[in-house]
Amino acid sequence: MLVCEHVEQLRLELDAHRRAGRTIAFVPTMGNLHEGHLQLVRLAKSNADVVVASIFVNPLQFGLNEDWEKYPRTFDADCAQLDGEGCDYLLYPNERDVYPNGMSLQTRVIVPAMTDILCGASRPGHFEGVTTIVAKLFNMVQPDKAIFGIKDFQQLAVIRKMTEDLCLPIEIIAAPIARADDGLALSSRNGYLTSIERPIAAEVYRSLQLAKHALECGRRDFHQIEHESQQHLVAHGMRIDYLSIRRVDDLEPATASDRNVVILVAVFLGNTRLIDNLQVAI
Ligand code: PAF
Repeated sequence: MLVCEHVEQLRLELDAHRRAGRTIAFVPTMGNLHEGHLQLVRLAKSNADVVVASIFVNPLQFGLNEDWEKYPRTFDADCAQLDGEGCDYLLYPNERDVYPNGMSLQTRVIVPAMTDILCGASRPGHFEGVTTIVAKLFNMVQPDKAIFGIKDFQQLAVIRKMTEDLCLPIEIIAAPIARADDGLALSSRNGYLTSIERPIAAEVYRSLQLAKHALECGRRDFHQIEHESQQHLVAHGMRIDYLSIRRVDDLEPATASDRNVVILVAVFLGNTRLIDNLQVAI
């Protein structure tokens, strides 16, 4: 795997592949890779001739009191894992090259729909930071396809919308959620959990399964179902950010006539914020 710290080098490499008619798939990450990321790389490999990953812990998508500074940086281990999966290129840019005019003067990409609800409500500016960096990375790499995990369901929906609205010729491919044996969705932030918190964190997935079961039994009292799953989480010592049953298409609250819904959850377990979701056809 070739590590490119400068986009010019990557562009030269990728131009040659494009001229040879090869397709390029892109996996943007913030590093601290786990099995979930590696599954994205495998999906990229099965969908294109050349795979490019990126590692950039994007300060623009973190709030002032969030974990940008302590976000785990594990570059050597990440490189070894990407290499092991047969990733061809790693873009590893520095902050000066990504934000040459500083962050406050950075041109922003704003998706007006779906960004001020759920995670967007509790993390103001977060999605603006995500869409801005993803648009920049898309311009740097100019891939044919890009892979994003369904675990960040709202992020995936917002990026799909941005790609469509900006007429970007990039196919967005969704990768299933990778889970630990007890159901916990894999996330770099799981590393913040203490040994006491880690088994409790699996209750997040159980709360989603409880709600899914209620929906599959034909119940449509959405608020009551949400309340019951929330109580399950509270009983396990978690603080609820949201647990909500939404329409898949636009993330608005589900109604009895909706057929494809998604149960989305964000909680705090100690100091760690965990998110997860489960889609249900009802
Ligand atoms: O999902 C992530 O890791 C990040 O939000 C992304 C897409 C790499 C943008 O920084």
